[in-house]
Amino acid sequence: MNILGINAYHGNSSAAIVCDGQLVTAVEEERFNRVKYAAGFPHNAVRYCLQEAGLTIRDVEHVAIPRNPWARMGTKLFYALRMPRFAFDRSKVLTRFSGIQGDLAKACNVDPESVQAQRHRVEHHVAHLASAFFVSPFDQAAVLSTDGLGDFASTMWASGRGNRLEVHGAVSFPHSLGLYYTALSQYLGFWKFGDEYKVMGLAAYGEPAHEGEFRRMVKAENGHGFRLDLKYFCHHQTGPQMSWPENDRTPVLGQLFSPYLEERLGKTRTPTEPIAKKHKDIAASLQAALEEAYFRLLNSLYQETGSKAVCLAGGVAFNCVANGKIFDRTPFAEVYVQPAAGDAGLAVGAAYYVYHQVLGHPRSFVMDHAYWGPQFTRETIRQAIKASAISGPNFCVREHATGELTLLAAERIAAGKIVGWFQGRAEWGPRALGNRSILVDPRRAEMREVLNRRIKHREPFRPFAPSILEEAAAEYFERSHPSPFMNLAYSVKPEKRAKIPAPTHVDGTGRLQTVSRSANPLYWALIKDFEKLTGVPVLLNTSFNDNEPIVLQPREAIDCFLRTNMDVLVIGNYLIEKPISHADPSPEPVLSA
Ligand SMILES: [Fe+2]
Repeated sequence: MNILGINAYHGNSSAAIVCDGQLVTAVEEERFNRVKYAAGFPHNAVRYCLQEAGLTIRDVEHVAIPRNPWARMGTKLFYALRMPRFAFDRSKVLTRFSGIQGDLAKACNVDPESVQAQRHRVEHHVAHLASAFFVSPFDQAAVLSTDGLGDFASTMWASGRGNRLEVHGAVSFPHSLGLYYTALSQYLGFWKFGDEYKVMGLAAYGEPAHEGEFRRMVKAENGHGFRLDLKYFCHHQTGPQMSWPENDRTPVLGQLFSPYLEERLGKTRTPTEPIAKKHKDIAASLQAALEEAYFRLLNSLYQETGSKAVCLAGGVAFNCVANGKIFDRTPFAEVYVQPAAGDAGLAVGAAYYVYHQVLGHPRSFVMDHAYWGPQFTRETIRQAIKASAISGPNFCVREHATGELTLLAAERIAAGKIVGWFQGRAEWGPRALGNRSILVDPRRAEMREVLNRRIKHREPFRPFAPSILEEAAAEYFERSHPSPFMNLAYSVKPEKRAKIPAPTHVDGTGRLQTVSRSANPLYWALIKDFEKLTGVPVLLNTSFNDNEPIVLQPREAIDCFLRTNMDVLVIGNYLIEKPISHADPSPEPVLSA
């Protein structure tokens, strides 16, 4: 039984294939077309998934689409009558979805009549819930999906048991924690699609000095719900305007906040304006109010389900700061957030919803690692090196046995070098988790600034994340519940903060990745070798890119290595070093622990 899941005509377009209940592959379109958060139809991702699974489109029995234009039709009609522009946008969505068979045929280079798979429409948040629960390790769990908007809902909650999900409730447009966070991010000068995580990083620098104002903005409602005070917003009058100028471009969102917000909080920050204390305090207040509403939802869900385990999905599930506090502020003892918790994950969720809930098959799969994307052979890597400037006389290129490779790479990192690390299958979801990563020494506080200056060019207030051996998490962090997909932030123990200053955020937390030997033996061995050299079982891990989607192919990794001031590239078993540059003084040695 082959099921193709497709997130199309929406941000983070993606595809996934499930064969007899096992996930074979899942990948975002942005990794192929190099457009961040690419919307439109995922032509490349669909082609890759079929090829990886050894299938043609004729072998696919079911196509699962995480969108149901007919869901919540009453609410949609109500707003369509009030907003003609919105009605026009809805009609465009319906037209796009009616053409999906043609787009699928075009991607597979066949006639539309050849696409015989049964098509299933799965409501947006139902697919989010399925993406969280059906691949989790739990037989029973509470399940929560929270994001901006999808099929006219912003939040949905359910209980999961075996191969069934039972939806208990939802919050409909215009009330949305995701849109609230986006609106305030815009107010703070962060307008790009996906910028909310920057504001989450900024929040740690401020105090929630505007708590009263934000409590009026996001009000508690009895039971699970919350309501936005719509005076502060305009999306309920203009419609949720998400568009993309071309089929495969990054989505653009219209302004979501109203003039009343400026009356209350003062003039908006322009994107180039310096960040003042006031902006930091607003970010902190925004985050605090989100957390209040989030934990109200979660505590109500616990009361309703009695389950000690919770699965989370939707864009808000990327709020690692809030997720890390779940154990303190709710009775939940176990948390699962799959690596593509946002809209890319809908492709997996819709496919599993069809497999379990529609077709009734039992559960047999747990997503316990994130490595579901393309991989490349030694020969492809060798050819990519040969075709690049690396093959010239100035570079040192050596191939090593695996045991030697991890030790040599660990030595370079411990010596203060910036190491690009490209191995195996690409990660599913937005986080580099040790297969497409840039790695540096976490003991060197200056590496944050060095990384930004030489490669990443990110805002200085944004934190970098630590990867830690799973078995050492309790030694360094106040919590040790596994965080394999970097979506929980815990406090670093006070006595350890000076040991790993580079990935410790200003508030003493770290958005950690716990690395198990079973999930990624090579990455685990690299961190282990670093620990042998330094006594510290941690690396600073940031994504292998420079203001672009994470690199996917060897040539993209090589291009990034060549155009930035990265010192070392480890690609497959090749270790490549640049000629000595005097752009930066030699790093000071750090004494072993
Ligand atoms: Fe969503």
